[in-house]
Amino acid sequence: MTILVIGGTGKTGRRVTAALDAIGVANRPVSRRSAIRFDWADESTWGPALDGVTAVYLVPLGTTLDDAEVAAFVPRAVAAGVRRIVALSARGISPEDGRERAVRESGVDWTILRPTWFSQNFSEDYFLGEVLAGELVLPPGGDGAHPFIDAQDIADVAVAALTQDGHAGVTYELSGPEALTFGEVLARIGDVSGRSIRVVDVPPADYTELLVQGGFDQEYAEVLTMSLTAMRDGHDAALSDGVPSVLGHDGRLFGDYVKEAAGAWA
Ligand SMILES: NC(=O)c1ccc[n+]([C@@H]2O[C@H](COP(=O)([O-])OP(=O)(O)OC[C@H]3O[C@@H](n4cnc5c(N)ncnc54)[C@H](OP(=O)(O)O)[C@@H]3O)[C@@H](O)[C@H]2O)c1
Repeated sequence: MTILVIGGTGKTGRRVTAALDAIGVANRPVSRRSAIRFDWADESTWGPALDGVTAVYLVPLGTTLDDAEVAAFVPRAVAAGVRRIVALSARGISPEDGRERAVRESGVDWTILRPTWFSQNFSEDYFLGEVLAGELVLPPGGDGAHPFIDAQDIADVAVAALTQDGHAGVTYELSGPEALTFGEVLARIGDVSGRSIRVVDVPPADYTELLVQGGFDQEYAEVLTMSLTAMRDGHDAALSDGVPSVLGHDGRLFGDYVKEAAGAWA
């Protein structure tokens, strides 16, 4: 059994590979930078990446809502011999949206993971540059909280679904164990880093434009802008039980993540 880990250099893929290595399960982490190159935008790279693979941890590019590349990739994977797909989705994505539909209709064992926003967005990419600059830019909103999830918990759930029976046909809603406001998050990062970081509100259309400049298509950039606004307005604070139900323990606390990630803000 060899497991293909797409997004193998990313926040969850890297941790999935490390966890599979730790239990001695053969895996092939791929991205645009791996020896066996995998590029969502170049179908000629998909065959070599799938050679000899029986399961896939599928991290979509996630820059569009329809995820057309996932719909094209899944049948290719099944034809190549893949019998299990564990796909990363996101809280709020509908079963009808491209990435989930293709996986559900694959005809092989599938598990879908729908996490909240990752804690590691503050230390590995996405928000990191702004945290270091002392100003986190967001669409306007209130002081709502969100249960940011540690990418390690997502990876641990993914590894369970990839290597154990009993997870086929299940969609897991995943969150961290506590909801925090952006103000609380930045204060905790400030405590370990000595940095002072403030939230800077920009009009929603400007925020959407920033996302488009960062590679998201217009439609998905608008969805993400609305998602952040809803979060800040207190509509996305609910905890989900996927992490404890699969792992048998609560997810990692934001305070522990902050201590572990402190080097990123040094
Ligand atoms: N971040 C969050 O808070 C969050 C929350 C819920 C769901 N998600 C979902 O998680 C997925 C990953 O997003 P992320 O922002 O967290 O990124 P990530 O997984 O940390 O990094 C993206 C990964 O994809 C690879 N990649 C980028 N462009 C690629 C391409 N054209 N072909 C193949 N691989 C490519 C990158 O590697 P190389 O650069 O080496 O190619 C990297 O390994 C998205 O589908 C997103 O919707 C994210």
